[in-house]
Amino acid sequence: MKVAFIGTGSMGSLLIEAFLRSGALHPHYICASNRSPQKAELLAKRHPGLRVTGSNAEAANGSQIIFLCVKPLDYLAVIDELAGIVDERQIVVSITSPVQIRMLEERIPSKIAKIIPSITHSALSGASLCIYGSRILPEDRLLLEQLISSISIPMSIRETETRIASDIASCGPAFIAFILQQWAEAASRLTGIGRAEAISLGAEMLYGTGKLLTEGGFTPEELQRRVAVPGGVTAEGIAVLDSGLSRVFSSLIEATHRKYDEDLVKLDGLFNPPSGGTADREERA
Ligand SMILES: NC(=O)c1ccc[n+]([C@@H]2O[C@H](COP(=O)([O-])OP(=O)(O)OC[C@H]3O[C@@H](n4cnc5c(N)ncnc54)[C@H](OP(=O)(O)O)[C@@H]3O)[C@@H](O)[C@H]2O)c1
Repeated sequence: MKVAFIGTGSMGSLLIEAFLRSGALHPHYICASNRSPQKAELLAKRHPGLRVTGSNAEAANGSQIIFLCVKPLDYLAVIDELAGIVDERQIVVSITSPVQIRMLEERIPSKIAKIIPSITHSALSGASLCIYGSRILPEDRLLLEQLISSISIPMSIRETETRIASDIASCGPAFIAFILQQWAEAASRLTGIGRAEAISLGAEMLYGTGKLLTEGGFTPEELQRRVAVPGGVTAEGIAVLDSGLSRVFSSLIEATHRKYDEDLVKLDGLFNPPSGGTADREERA
């Protein structure tokens, strides 16, 4: 199976390297293209056999699955390039949240899926968020989930839930890393423990907590009950978090959704320009 990756920036490269490390893909079956050639060429150097091309159309041509790993505002240019190239047998996978499946289905004849990845996939873990377009058949879904499950746990979501699910699965590692950093800095400032030591302790704790909440079968409530015995030290700490964090997560969700809505408006303007926009000018020419 030939798989193309268009855009080999942070996420495109991460996905390619995770698929290679998991053994799900072999370099000979990957073709990558990127706007500026250096990033793709670096991948080819690191993984002999991986093919690199300067042309997105050439990467897509003959690939069964095509991952689009460019930023939202670069989608239209790539999609327009692929429009006359891809056909109804190929699967185009968007990895970005604000580009709607219908926007892609309206412009190219291929089967469309949206799979939102996470940086956690570079550790072959974390949830990938899967949304399938109207042309995806059960066998396409099976193929995609077989591939993506080599580096993550695929979770099906509704497209309307993309933002909130991405907040948790995809932005979450950065949010949690921020909390750990703040915690370690406060620990170091107030007690003299080394910052690096505090971060190592925290990272091991997060790893173990993740395991307990997944394979260990704990719910967040059970985990708190087991650690925070009444009248103990943990209960004191939880009371502080309870008063300090009561508004934080609502504000966080409001902020990410506000930004997402702005991105949707920009994308809608790009894909459906008002009269006098690029598409109209092209039509008149
Ligand atoms: N970062 C995350 O954790 C994360 C998680 C989930 C989803 N995503 C999504 O992943 C997408 C990519 O994000 P990223 O962090 O990987 O961004 P990035 O590092 O900027 O990578 C985007 C790449 O796309 C290339 N590109 C732009 N236009 C192109 C074109 N017309 N043809 C070919 N290549 C083109 C860029 O090339 P140049 O080298 O020329 O700039 C760049 O290497 C975004 O939509 C983001 O929402 C990211």
